[in-house]
Amino acid sequence: MQRVLFKVFVLSTGLIVASCDRTEQTTQKSEPENTSSSKQPFVDDRINIDSARLMRGRELYLKNCTVCHGLSAEGAPNWQQRDEDGKFPAPPLNGTGHAWHHPHHALVDTIKNGTIRLGGKMPPWKDRLSDEEINLIILWFQSQWPPELYQAWQRLDREYEKRQLERSK
Ligand code: HEC
Repeated sequence: MQRVLFKVFVLSTGLIVASCDRTEQTTQKSEPENTSSSKQPFVDDRINIDSARLMRGRELYLKNCTVCHGLSAEGAPNWQQRDEDGKFPAPPLNGTGHAWHHPHHALVDTIKNGTIRLGGKMPPWKDRLSDEEINLIILWFQSQWPPELYQAWQRLDREYEKRQLERSK
């Protein structure tokens, strides 16, 4: 019983384990190597999404974004090459492009303000879609991403949020 309690203690206090002396650590050989608290286990938070919200996000996407980003958010053909006007066509949002390089905050910013102000072609949506509607659209296109990609994005987004929090201290 004592040993079980000790295991629970070790697993839930990664940082303390790091400061334990060697002898204690060697008795814990059967434990997974990585109990560091900085590596949170990955929980795909998409599992909690309500399907009605997802449907609404899809509807809003279809109404407003399909014309450029494609029916399944696959992006325009040749989205990586500039058009004759020297500007890029709409990239995919379904996980085959690089939308996952941007934290949630940056995705919202692009959607709200568009890219015309930056010399691109996307119009701003801030006067046409509410914050909630924008979030629902993001929720929907992210539901198309494969788990590994979403996981990488979630890490990046957490890091971004952490840095913002530190900056505001
Ligand atoms: C008139 C065409 C057009 C429409 C409509 C449009 N977009 Fe875009 N979007 C673009 C283009 C083009 C880009 C690439 C940036 C650029 O060069 O302008 C882009 C980029 C983006 C990006 C950044 C992707 C990345 O990989 O960095 C997001 C996110 C995005 N759009 C979401 C949306 C959403 C959501 C809607 C609907 C509410 C929408 N767009 C409607 C043309 C459009």
